[in-house]
Amino acid sequence: MKDILKAPFVREMMDTTANMYRLGWDERNGGNISYLLDEKEVAEYLDVNKVIREIPTGFVAKSLVGKIFIVTGTGKYFKNVEKDPETNLGIIRIKEDATTAQLLWGYKDGGRFTSELPAHLMSHMARLKVDPENRVVMHSHPTYTLAMNYVHELDEKKFTHTLWEMCTECIVVFPDGIGVLPWMLCGTNSIGEATAKKMEEFRLVVWGMHGIYGAGKTMDEAFGLIETVEKAAQIYMLTAHLPRVNTIKEEEMVSLAELFKVNYRKDFLDMFNNK
Ligand code: 13P
Ligand code: ZN
Repeated sequence: MKDILKAPFVREMMDTTANMYRLGWDERNGGNISYLLDEKEVAEYLDVNKVIREIPTGFVAKSLVGKIFIVTGTGKYFKNVEKDPETNLGIIRIKEDATTAQLLWGYKDGGRFTSELPAHLMSHMARLKVDPENRVVMHSHPTYTLAMNYVHELDEKKFTHTLWEMCTECIVVFPDGIGVLPWMLCGTNSIGEATAKKMEEFRLVVWGMHGIYGAGKTMDEAFGLIETVEKAAQIYMLTAHLPRVNTIKEEEMVSLAELFKVNYRKDFLDMFNNK
């Protein structure tokens, strides 16, 4: 058996949580990550038949039965993951009953997976339907994105449009735009269901006055999406109170999208007259 602390998927969780912490996006226990793993790869590091304990999830995840995820622990600080991955992370498999998580490794202090597991697993189910290669769901509280929530309308089209105006490459990075949910009670199945519904359409979902979710095939994709939104939100927050002299025009966004051959949300641009 290889050393699990050297497994690429554990290293990726350690590196990513450390990066997110250093960027100031994840104070205290803020944020959580779930990463769908390949069973064969996990079996190189763990006896996958050895279940440490079982933890009920409180919801049904039929299409995820047998699937294995590495997930950050609830109440755990991103800043501590690198120092002690086995306490702050856990590897779980969804049991045949679809409502129980079998702990295969981690949560060493008796802990459990993030309180946002419903939003994570429901989002995985939604994304896998539209992109069978999706692997990562990431939640974070990035500072400027959150600040923008207080001063900008929480409307999907308007929010996306403003961000597309803030950095030239935004429309290329997230041509599918950003889904937006109003403030909702977090850690519940309801916010999980609402997030998953948005994830059928978007890889990014803002939780009003709370944070953001990103999904992708790789850790880099999910991280890069949130990073780009956060950069654009920072430019917005640095300029929103100043007179706007210049802006990236819709025609320019369209030419970028065409050059990079991305399928962008035409209905989010005024020039196509869909408000
Ligand atoms: P957990 O500590 O349960 O992961 O919760 C953090 C968070 O960001 C809640 O939305
Ligand atoms: Zn949160």
